[in-house]
Amino acid sequence: MKIIKKSSYRPQPHVCVVIPVFKGAALAELWQEFPELEYPARQKRIKGEIGEALACHSLEQRRLFLLVGAGKPGRLADARRLACRTMTLLREHLATRALLYFAAPLPYPPEYLRNLVDYLHLNNYRFDRYRKKKSKPVERIELAFKKRVSWSGAEWPERAIVLEEARLARDLVNEIPARANPDAMVQAFAAAAGRHGLKLEAWRRPELEANGMSGLLAVGASSCCEPALLTLTHEPRDFSRTVVLVGKGITFDAGGLNLKPGNSMEEMKCDMAGAAAVLGALSAVARLRLPLKVIGLAPLTENLPGRRAYKPGDIITYANKKTVEVVNTDAEGRLILADALIVAARLKPDMIIELSTLTGAIVTALGDSYAGLFCRNRRLSAGLLQAAESSGELLWEMPLPGEYRESIASKVADLKNANYNGASSIKAGLFLSEFTGRVPFAHIDIAGTAFLSKPNFCLNSEGATGFGVRLLVEFLQNLG
Ligand code: BES
Ligand code: MN
Ligand code: ZN
Repeated sequence: MKIIKKSSYRPQPHVCVVIPVFKGAALAELWQEFPELEYPARQKRIKGEIGEALACHSLEQRRLFLLVGAGKPGRLADARRLACRTMTLLREHLATRALLYFAAPLPYPPEYLRNLVDYLHLNNYRFDRYRKKKSKPVERIELAFKKRVSWSGAEWPERAIVLEEARLARDLVNEIPARANPDAMVQAFAAAAGRHGLKLEAWRRPELEANGMSGLLAVGASSCCEPALLTLTHEPRDFSRTVVLVGKGITFDAGGLNLKPGNSMEEMKCDMAGAAAVLGALSAVARLRLPLKVIGLAPLTENLPGRRAYKPGDIITYANKKTVEVVNTDAEGRLILADALIVAARLKPDMIIELSTLTGAIVTALGDSYAGLFCRNRRLSAGLLQAAESSGELLWEMPLPGEYRESIASKVADLKNANYNGASSIKAGLFLSEFTGRVPFAHIDIAGTAFLSKPNFCLNSEGATGFGVRLLVEFLQNLG
């Protein structure tokens, strides 16, 4: 989809006109602007609340007008929801070209417009690779403002890069698990590395064994596809800081021998969304030439039952000599992430940010619009929370109380991988913190936000959201 900034309101024939109506707007003034609208439309009411919409036609010009509730002027959350509603309406009306006209003479700060553009794009996405009947995307949106906006649109090419990488991440997560297996993920990483000049190192079985990556080897034991640990590096000539990003890459989570019941398994192709977000973020970082060293780590495997499957009761010995008792093979994410975090900490970066679809409990706690942020470093969490607010990939900070540490202590090993007495997201976070040494560390549990079973208030289609790509890029841009 093309989005173009226009200098004035001059819609071509057959282009749908969308008019955001802010709360408290004087409707009489608005109607004066559009004499081509027929009389009956003027008697309808719209208050400007988010979610409200009014469709009307101008008879002579056969033009469709959509008045869409825009909420509070300047509010970023309302920009996202306005964009979402607008795209849903355009698709419903089969409109492929639109002019979005901001008639209210308000200030539109760059951040507001960036969110609007982001969410127009994000809501034009559909995964219909496997459908004969494809839904028609919107092809072109023109933006016009009554008041001149200070914003030139100069940052659009940059934004297009970030949005394209978010889209690729969504495609990868939505891809069926038969195709998006560890081998295919290695290929996807290699392709991105080739395209954007990133360095890729792929550890497969021999290197995993040589480096003692025993969590990955245990979880991956029953898969016909060999596990992998990928390291994707962006290293500019000059940099002063190094950031490691880690993403969980379970390409399908059946639960292993602790098999998941049918309906909880249905969406488990999404369990590599962390790895996909890391790939998207690294690609964007390289294309934007950010002046930071950024290293992406992705442990990849499937979690399946089978003759060779790892078992409850097994004890895994990690490269840092810590031992972990497996009490539940479905708590596999933390087991493969432990390997990656050990490697990450050895790189001595300034910080580690890890994203994973880690626990069902975070979905219960925060739903599908906030990811859980677990971080003991104030500066790091503040930076992430700020990037979350401005990107719309929202975070809610969760505690990491030391008091809960004993609940993941084992009688036969140093740690165990699960404990059933509640707070399972926190315990997972505490488990991961055991493997990061002294490096400032943030764990982001994206189990609720990475994949939607139904649309939410700012994304109008189910499936992968690409959560993390825009958040990480934003955070890294602020850092650089
Ligand atoms: N991949 C799942 C978590 C998940 C749940 C992701 C829902 C996306 C949506 C994870 O591996 C898992 O199975 N977690 C278990 C842990 C438990 C056994 C301690 C869970 O949350 O039930
Ligand atoms: Mn699991
Ligand atoms: Zn999982």
